[in-house]
Amino acid sequence: MGIAYTAKGNQIVPVTRRLVIRGRKVRDGRVRISGAKNSAVALLPATLLADGESVLQNVPDIADVAVQQDILRELGATVTRTNAGEVRVEASGALSHEVPYPLAKRLRGSVLLLGPLVARLGRARVPLPGGCAIGSRPLDLHLKGLRELGAEVEIEHGYICAQAKSLLGTEIYLDFPSVGATENVMMAATAARGVTVIYNAAKEPEVVDLANFINAMGGRVIGAGTDTIKIEGGHPLRAVEYSIIPDRIEAGTYLLAGLAGGGSVTVENVIPTHLEALLAKLEEAGVELADCGDAITARLVGRPKPLQVKTLPYPGFPTDLQPQLTAFLLLSEGTSVISERIFEDRFGHVDELKRLGGKLETDGRTAVIKGVERLTGSHVTATDLRMGAALIVAGIAAEGETVIDGVEHIQRGYERLTEKLTDLGVVADWID
Ligand code: EPZ
Repeated sequence: MGIAYTAKGNQIVPVTRRLVIRGRKVRDGRVRISGAKNSAVALLPATLLADGESVLQNVPDIADVAVQQDILRELGATVTRTNAGEVRVEASGALSHEVPYPLAKRLRGSVLLLGPLVARLGRARVPLPGGCAIGSRPLDLHLKGLRELGAEVEIEHGYICAQAKSLLGTEIYLDFPSVGATENVMMAATAARGVTVIYNAAKEPEVVDLANFINAMGGRVIGAGTDTIKIEGGHPLRAVEYSIIPDRIEAGTYLLAGLAGGGSVTVENVIPTHLEALLAKLEEAGVELADCGDAITARLVGRPKPLQVKTLPYPGFPTDLQPQLTAFLLLSEGTSVISERIFEDRFGHVDELKRLGGKLETDGRTAVIKGVERLTGSHVTATDLRMGAALIVAGIAAEGETVIDGVEHIQRGYERLTEKLTDLGVVADWID
C-alpha cells in the first residue's frame, strides 16, 4: 500500500489515519525487509555529486524518501521512480543551491544536501531542520567540518549559508561520531584538493553504503566502517547504478514485533552482521536464533528474560531500536534497565506504553521496566517514527485491540506497513 497523501492548502500532506492492531499473532511470520531509509536519505543527495543519471535500486517507498526526492526535483534534478524500488536521478542540468523550507522542515535528512551542494556548486543555502521529538539535534559538527575544509558557513534567518571558492583537504576530528556530520564531510571532501581524514568518524553501515556509492562513482574513500575515514578529493565522479543495503532498523523492528506476538518470526533480505548488537541482546533474553545467509529466524518460548541495555554508536546497540526493545521488555520476567546514551529525550514512548499496562519509570536518560504478565490494548498516539514502531510492538504483545493515532509518523520509515504486519501474522487494519 503506497502512502496516502492529500492536498492541505498549498502542501501535499499524508492522510492521517489510525492503525488498529489486534494483539497476539495468529501464525508464525515471515517478512521481506526493504532498502535502508537512512542510506536512501544520504545517497539521494550524493547523486548530485555527478552529472548524468544515477540509478538507485532497493529504495524504500516511504515518506522520508519521497520528501528527499522532491527536494532534488526542486533543486533542478529529474527524479523518477521507475518500478519497485528503483529511483533514477538525472542531475546534469544547472542546479539551484537553495533547499526549499516547506520540504526541508519535514525531514532532518535534508541537511545532507549541504555537503553535495558545496562540493558541486561551491555554495548552499539549507534550512535549519529544527529539533524533533527526540532532542535538540544540533549541527555544530556538520558546520565545523565544512569550515575546516575551507567553506565560510553562517546561520542567517534560519538557514545554513555556506560558500567555498575552493575546498582544501584537511584533518577533521568529530567530537562525537555523528552519522550526518560524517556523511556531509565525506561528500564535501570529494571536491576538496588533496586528502581529508575524518577522525572519530561514525561507523554505521549506512555510512559505509555512502562510501561504497562514492567509490562506485569513481571517488576514493578509504576506511569507512572504521573510526578513521580518508577521502582523496578531486577524482572526477560519474553517475552510476547502485543497490542500497537492507534496512537493519526495519529488520530489528519486525523481529521484536514478531517475538512480542508469540511464535516465530523470520526476516528475509537482511545482513545479519548489521544486527549483531540486537541479536546478542535477544539471545540474552532467551530468544532462539537461526541465521542462514540473508535471513534470520527468531523464536521465544515464554516471556523474555530482563536485560540491561545502553544505546551507543555502531556497533553498539542502536538508539533507533531502543523504543521497540523497551516495548518488547514490558512482558519480561524481571526488571530491565535501558540507558539512552545518544539522544537526550528519546523516552516519549514511555507514557503511551503505560496506557497498555506497562510498568516503567524514567529518570533522565534511564528507563526502568518492571515486567508484567499481560498488557491490554488501548488507544495511543505516536509522535515520532520509532515511538510509533514501539507502539506497534506493544500493541502486538497486548491482548485485545490497540488503536494507534499519528501513523503518518510511522509511514515515514516503514514501507508497506500493513502488508508486512499481515506477513508477520498480525491482524492490522486502517480506520479513518
Ligand atoms: C542519524 O541521525 C539517523 N538518521 C538517526 O535515525 C539515528 O538515530 C542517528 O543517526 C544515530 O544513529 C539518518 O541517518 C537520516 P547523529 P543523525 O548526528 O545523523 C549529536 C531514525 O529514526 N550531534 O549521529 O542526525 C546529536 O545531538 C533516525 O531513523 C551533535 O552533537 O544523528 C546526537 O546526540 C532518528 N552535533 C548524536 O550526535 C552534530 O553536529 C547522534 O547524532 C550532530 C550530532
